[in-house]
Amino acid sequence: MSSFQNQVAIVTGAGSGFGRATAIAFAAAGARVIVSDINDEGGQATVEQIKQGGGEASFVRCNVAEPSEIESLVAQTVALYGRLDIGINNAGIGGKFARLTDQTKHDFDQMMAINVGSVFYGMQSQIRQMLTQPEGGKIVNISSIAGVRGMPMGGPYSAAKHAVLGLTKTAALEYIRQNIRVNAVCPVYTHSGMVQDLIDKAPNMEAKMLRVIPIGRFGQPEEIAQTILWLCSPENGFCNGQAIQMDGGLTAG
Ligand SMILES: NC(=O)c1ccc[n+]([C@@H]2O[C@H](COP(=O)([O-])OP(=O)(O)OC[C@H]3O[C@@H](n4cnc5c(N)ncnc54)[C@H](O)[C@@H]3O)[C@@H](O)[C@H]2O)c1
Repeated sequence: MSSFQNQVAIVTGAGSGFGRATAIAFAAAGARVIVSDINDEGGQATVEQIKQGGGEASFVRCNVAEPSEIESLVAQTVALYGRLDIGINNAGIGGKFARLTDQTKHDFDQMMAINVGSVFYGMQSQIRQMLTQPEGGKIVNISSIAGVRGMPMGGPYSAAKHAVLGLTKTAALEYIRQNIRVNAVCPVYTHSGMVQDLIDKAPNMEAKMLRVIPIGRFGQPEEIAQTILWLCSPENGFCNGQAIQMDGGLTAG
């Protein structure tokens, strides 16, 4: 595994799921990690887990739907650790499970604020800091398989995750000459709080979800985390503007 010694990483939504697994993996690889979430308890638990494993981490609360809080998250990171090498824009919500005609303005606006605003304003603040560093930086945005395909009952979610890829590709083109690489991951259903919420919606939901994944199982947060680390690793310096589909083969068909 690559070493991220002396590097500083922000992981949003690190109070559970992919974010927690990613924060733990970066810390295990030597990075100093800012664990951020709107959920203080979950975020503090991730920091505890990192510290018990001998890693370095601090919790900074941030609601990613608020641009001013995102700006403050980056400022607090630099105040604590002096720099920012890695930005993982992971925090997100699953939104309402309903057809397009049953989604409200509130459902749509909330989805855009959290799942797209987090990435737009997150990258803005992170890149502004990275531009001050000759080494630049690495950003990974968390999209979804719903960012490359439609998602029945999840129109706003699918729209948001497509938008994440548009922002990722644009930033990748705009800043690569300043040594800032920007990529995205697009996971299929992976064991986390978000997927458990979906499973709980109907008795046959889990079987239905598994049926579409060729590998026949859900992903694990640690598998997504390792892909994120690989995208940020120096050995992967030529990879920019990509959307890595972590889907057990779903989009191969
Ligand atoms: N689990 C999956 O199958 C799956 C698949 C594809 C993409 N994703 C994406 O992965 C990311 C992580 O999801 P997860 O599956 O780990 O879910 P999760 O629910 O376990 O974790 C999401 C985290 O984001 C935090 N969060 C929510 N709203 C926030 C806000 N406004 N500000 C700050 N933090 C906030 C939550 O508190 C939580 O800790 C999301 O962007 C999600 O859309 C998940």
